Amino acid sequence: MSSQSNSKAVTLTTLLDLKARGEKFSCLTAYDACFATILSEAGVEVLLVGDSLGMVLQGHDSTLPVTMADMIYHTECVKRGNRGALIMSDLPFMSYASETQTLENAASLMRAGAHMVKLEGGAWIANTTRLLAERGIPVCAHMGLTPQSVNRIGGFHVQGRNTEQAEMIIEEAQLLQDAGASTLLLECVPRALGKKITDSLNIPVIGIGAGPDTSGQIMVLHDVLGVSPITPKFVKNFLTDSDNGIPGAIEGYVNSVKNLTFPSDDHCFN
Ligand code: KIV
Repeated sequence: MSSQSNSKAVTLTTLLDLKARGEKFSCLTAYDACFATILSEAGVEVLLVGDSLGMVLQGHDSTLPVTMADMIYHTECVKRGNRGALIMSDLPFMSYASETQTLENAASLMRAGAHMVKLEGGAWIANTTRLLAERGIPVCAHMGLTPQSVNRIGGFHVQGRNTEQAEMIIEEAQLLQDAGASTLLLECVPRALGKKITDSLNIPVIGIGAGPDTSGQIMVLHDVLGVSPITPKFVKNFLTDSDNGIPGAIEGYVNSVKNLTFPSDDHCFN
């Protein structure tokens, strides 16, 4: 059964309901049909076709070389394998630099099978978020560590460690919610900041390296399976404890997010 005809398909309303009930949800990156089936059948609520594919699939040292053609191709693959998860696709580096570009590129991702698009930034993406939301395209605003800005940030570092930076992220998160963002993704921020932002917003907040208090958790698939060359602090390999190979590892991840055993203190920035 395709995701379109599955009556139990995950929608934004599902994520809002889970947040309202205080139940955590799980998200993972997916780049192909085979893993999209395994992940969605294991109960992963959101599949992110992430521009991290530039690093984990293509071997680049950043996400900057990823193109719209790459994102459309992988979104189409994930759509074919998906069994009811919500598909979120990244607008890659420089694909939302002007209004015309943004609308054309976001529409292409939605036509390829995305249910929501993700873009990186703070206050400067508020108008873009509004532009898309008003035209029926749900937006996930990616804040904290934003890998497309790695050259400006000066590396893949934890963000919001000092009060001034933390206050700016809180303010801009509110601004993006007001502009119409449907979800927020928070990457690599201290645990206390992850909690503060999640508590202050109505929309679901998805965390990676942002502590256990966000509404949902997201990980890069290759990290969960322990096949990435580097292991940041917030990463856990779920394959080592699995007694059913890859499907068991994914179920372990989903269950650990739901029963609050992942992320633990070891995976948090304090
Ligand atoms: O592209 C991606 O995989 C991401 C995750 C790191 C959240 O944005």
